[in-house]
Amino acid sequence: MSHTLKGAKDFMPINGTDYLELYVSNAKQAAHYYKSAFGFKSLAYRGLETGSKELESYVVVQDKIRLVLTSPLKSGTEVGKHIDKHGDGVKVTALWVDDATYAYNEAIKRGATHYMKPVTEEDEKGTVVRSGIYSYGEVVHIFVERKNYNGVFLPGFISWETPNYNPDAVGLKYVDHMVGNVALGQMNHWVKFYEEVMGFTQIMSFDDNDISTEFTALMSKVMSSGDGRIKFPINEPAPGLKKSQVDEYLEFYEGEGVQHIAVATDNIIKTVTELQDRGVEFLKVPDSYYDVLTDRVGKIDEDIEALRPLGILVDRDDEGYLLQIFTKTVQARPTMFFEIIQRKGATSFGKGNFKALFEALEREQELRGTL
Ligand code: FE2
Repeated sequence: MSHTLKGAKDFMPINGTDYLELYVSNAKQAAHYYKSAFGFKSLAYRGLETGSKELESYVVVQDKIRLVLTSPLKSGTEVGKHIDKHGDGVKVTALWVDDATYAYNEAIKRGATHYMKPVTEEDEKGTVVRSGIYSYGEVVHIFVERKNYNGVFLPGFISWETPNYNPDAVGLKYVDHMVGNVALGQMNHWVKFYEEVMGFTQIMSFDDNDISTEFTALMSKVMSSGDGRIKFPINEPAPGLKKSQVDEYLEFYEGEGVQHIAVATDNIIKTVTELQDRGVEFLKVPDSYYDVLTDRVGKIDEDIEALRPLGILVDRDDEGYLLQIFTKTVQARPTMFFEIIQRKGATSFGKGNFKALFEALEREQELRGTL
């Protein structure tokens, strides 16, 4: 399909994803994991040494992707309550804007639920303005205006230096899309939210005819910001014979939340080889997937025999093709995971892989006894 966004009312231009903040039970160890396994670099820190008495955060970076990993330093905090309810997961999707006060006022005027009024934070490197609204579940969008700032991350953070341990990057470039799981019957509510409050446009939809296996199904709609820099697919479970992967997420996350973060690479074979060598676990489709791959997607630049042992998937749309692979869930609860994606023209999300993939997911669910 073409990628025109003529219907977009771009009253809220967004430059890109500024950062993703995960509330996790042990930020120090999580930061080590994202460095060691995913090739992120140490960037910034706040904690007791910087006067932050309740929360500790480690910020790691790889190209344009910034992850903030936050844990409480005492009981009874909002972060601690969030972790108690949801386990580790994404709390903040921060969006880089030119004017965080304008973005907040526009969103509130159009019906958003308030999370954080515009606040100006300052240090010797300048000022940052941030504001925030609620999305699905307890997830929030924070608007970040940083045109008057040249510090390492945000005021309140200091540079996090780790001279003795800096694993190589694995080639992750930017956040391609971020998927939310919402409750049965709620998908269209959130589609409307992104249209009315954020000026996004629906660019794709999948129903249970597209995404179903013998047992389970889901429905999905993809929302895009005006210029296409931000894409948020939203899933809801569809009735099936057994519990769908979205149902399992909602049960274990105890609510709606971020299902997966898709990160782009220019060389998926190299990136995934490196990730696997460092212990990242991926979902695997049956070998037979590769026997019929050329028939399904036609000729591609990559050698299929290089994709097969890694489990990398391929799909084609009108504009080109894409390569993708999904990690297993990355925390104690079977909730959030990552996707690694390389686009070669394709602007879609891998619909042709959904069936093979969901069957692979269901084998994992079966092992957990949650299917
Ligand atoms: Fe995805």
